Amino acid sequence: MTQKKLRRIGVLTSGGDAPGMNAAIRSVVRTCIQHGIVPIGIYRGYNGLIHSNVVELNARSVNGITSRGGTMLYTARCEEFRTKEGVERAAKTCRYLGIDGLVVIGGDGTFRGARDLSAEGINTVGIPGTIDNDIACTDYSIGFDTAANTAIEAIDKLTDTMQSHERISVVELMGRNAGHLALYVGLAVGATAILVPEHPFDMEADIVEKIREGHYNNKRHFIVIVAEGVGHTTEIAQRIKELTGIETRVTIMGHIQRGGSPSARDRVMASRMGHYAVKTLLEGHTNQVVVYRNALVQRITIDEALQMKKDLDFYLYEVARDISI
Ligand code: F6P
Repeated sequence: MTQKKLRRIGVLTSGGDAPGMNAAIRSVVRTCIQHGIVPIGIYRGYNGLIHSNVVELNARSVNGITSRGGTMLYTARCEEFRTKEGVERAAKTCRYLGIDGLVVIGGDGTFRGARDLSAEGINTVGIPGTIDNDIACTDYSIGFDTAANTAIEAIDKLTDTMQSHERISVVELMGRNAGHLALYVGLAVGATAILVPEHPFDMEADIVEKIREGHYNNKRHFIVIVAEGVGHTTEIAQRIKELTGIETRVTIMGHIQRGGSPSARDRVMASRMGHYAVKTLLEGHTNQVVVYRNALVQRITIDEALQMKKDLDFYLYEVARDISI
């Protein structure tokens, strides 16, 4: 803990972007201004810190960005920052520019960077932002709700055409190595089967049998959700087609899930977390991450956060399985 008066706070976004990051930036900037601190925007994640690619922000620079997806500060994954020299260079830039507090918005990789910078004497705090919602320390990460709604809207459209043609739709969703997004969306769209990396599946029992049974009971279209972490989506679809004899089409949802105007939930959560992050720095804390747990915005140390593991919500999985008949 430090009690030094903060003069300048930097803010950056790193890793994959997520809808709501702009609302978090806006909240950080305006909370800084409320407390007489100069907010500094850092471009392209840790790259901008290493190469001193920064801009002084004010209340007006963040006008109207809440409704926009993406991040006004751009984002990147920075290889150089993974080295000791890279971290030292970034810390040097902070000292040179008088940045004595830093808010980083991203995932676990971003928090690891903040932990390393904190060890170099820069006060840091992380905000969870990823559509994957795979950050173990927090129940919620910015972008998840919007991405889920984007996928749901697209799958509802697919359903219209699949219904007309009486086909099976196999849809691959993002999520890296985790199935949180796939499970949530799968439940929301009434998928016949949801394949996630956390749970082994049996092609015959979990997919083909259910489709045959549904078909026998006059069900005329089927949605199978595959989390990208499962892999082989095209092969899975081909196999389903062979085994069921029903026309099957594959849709890879891809990066469309990362764009779009943030939902109310993402805007509000991002605003709360941005505000809390600046307060955390003002109270003299460092090496922290803002989390949403037990319906409260709180903070824990990054070291603690990085040691945690996140399980899939198996109850949600059970619900989805039991009602997909
Ligand atoms: O972490 C967010 C995410 O969109 C993952 O779901 C996905 O696996 C990855 O990023 C894609 O990364 P990129 O934008 O570099 O292709």
